[in-house]
Amino acid sequence: MSASLQPNFKVRNLTLRSNAEEASVYAAHKIADLIKQKQKEGKAAVLGLATGNTPIRIYQELIRLHKSESLSFQNVITFNLDEYYPISTTNNQSYTYFMNQYLFDQIDIDPQNIHIPHTECSIAMVSHYCGDYEAKIAKYGGLDLQLLGIGRNGHIGFNEPGSTLESTTRLVNLHPITRDDAIENFGTLENVPEQAISIGIQTIMKAKMILLMALGARKSEIISKALNSQISSEIPATFLRTLPQVEYILDREAAALI
Ligand code: F6R
Repeated sequence: MSASLQPNFKVRNLTLRSNAEEASVYAAHKIADLIKQKQKEGKAAVLGLATGNTPIRIYQELIRLHKSESLSFQNVITFNLDEYYPISTTNNQSYTYFMNQYLFDQIDIDPQNIHIPHTECSIAMVSHYCGDYEAKIAKYGGLDLQLLGIGRNGHIGFNEPGSTLESTTRLVNLHPITRDDAIENFGTLENVPEQAISIGIQTIMKAKMILLMALGARKSEIISKALNSQISSEIPATFLRTLPQVEYILDREAAALI
């Protein structure tokens, strides 16, 4: 571990809730508070968003706040963490499809403010495309808030084991555990893409606020490692322990082994 990678346990910010429902509502309200704060300041809220099972209930609560408590998303700019490569945006396993279904179609966000890695580009264009995605995030002044789930192998975004601190948006090879976990959505392993575009560890770590959320017993082992094992690229989520702006939001089952 290098000197710059000392975990700072004083600032380690753990929020424990007794179940997934309470943890999700808590996270949704943190996001809503940021959006409202930025509205008061006349500014945009730049959100880094995740897909997967973990954020679904958060997005439902944000939709409820929009419909019942007039939370507006007019000042919100979003950048999604990742997308399978290649996949069509109309494929119901694409993260574009997911985000429209679970959030964007039900709120008043301006479609021009939505950014999700588009992976229909040819392999020759990928690195240009990834540079452009990074440049767009930078143009908005970076991410105000990054919402993260965690893979059972410790990935954040699709920054799989071996991803470095310096990594930025790029094409990645998906880890066997990640592809295995995706079988529930794609039906068979053969159908699960082998690659994805993911924003990098460096991109994530520059976010002004990071919420890492883990729910359920199947995340308890990796959460224990993310919080307690040596900081290394073998478990990319351990890099977050070097940052003061990370909050870990866990339900009781996910926190069982910490
Ligand atoms: C999704 C993403 C992944 C997931 C992680 C957990 O955009 O970047 O890192 O957050 O694989 O997935 P779930 O929430 O389905 O357990």
